[in-house]
Amino acid sequence: MIRIKTPYEIEQMRHTCRLAAEALRMIEPHVQPGITTQQLNDICHQFILDHGAVPSPLNYRGFPKSICTSVNQQVCHGIPSSRVLREGDIVNVDITTNLNGFHGDTSRTFAVGTISSKAAKCIDVARNCLDIGIRAIRTGGHVGDIGAAIAAYARLQHCSVVREYCGHGIGRDFHEDPAVMHFGEAGQGALLRPGMIFTIEPMINLGKAAIRHLPDKWTVVTQDHSLSAQFEHTILITAEGYEVLTDIDQVYSSSSQESAA
Ligand code: MF3
Ligand code: CO
Ligand code: CO
Repeated sequence: MIRIKTPYEIEQMRHTCRLAAEALRMIEPHVQPGITTQQLNDICHQFILDHGAVPSPLNYRGFPKSICTSVNQQVCHGIPSSRVLREGDIVNVDITTNLNGFHGDTSRTFAVGTISSKAAKCIDVARNCLDIGIRAIRTGGHVGDIGAAIAAYARLQHCSVVREYCGHGIGRDFHEDPAVMHFGEAGQGALLRPGMIFTIEPMINLGKAAIRHLPDKWTVVTQDHSLSAQFEHTILITAEGYEVLTDIDQVYSSSSQESAA
């Protein structure tokens, strides 16, 4: 069941999404060669607590840390550890805040120092996939429009889309309906209605789409060891189109229905 948010719930979601985005902006300058993913975790954990929220991942279905840090061929759900980031690595930092009982979810993949052109391509394609997915949103359109647009672009770039994990409704629960797949058919799936809030978070591999899990049961990696990158925003459907609630850099103009022309 897809929950249409009330004006009060939308206001609360604006606050928690802003905080999640601020935490992600805060951590960016710390992503440097020599730092451990545990240190990134601890800095984010304290920032979130200092702002009156709690990190949603901590103890979520047994997840042991406050953020997810996924390095190189890790696709998602990497567990912060004593691993030291090295020049040339790429790392996705995925932050979810619970502020007053409402969850905001956003992630980006960062370059650690100078990276290879292959790594840069992976990041660029993943960022563009999120952007293209967002711009495919039309009020009165369908959730399948988003995945179809993402998959078409990824294919043109000779990259693959991970199929096992998708975007999700979000609000009072971390993961709600609908599932927002990053592939599929335009015109299919749930109708996009004002008051819906969900994430789009495509995971893009330079190689094949297949994944496996590490023995820690959480970390998802590419089966072929190819690089993987991901970007995520939390998005509100409005009467006019959409608002990207975790976009504090104002990349996306709010309340705009992109014209079809
Ligand atoms: N933040 C992830 C998402 O985008 C979910 C992480 S679940 C965790 O949906 F348990 F691994 F934290
Ligand atoms: Co998410
Ligand atoms: Co997330």
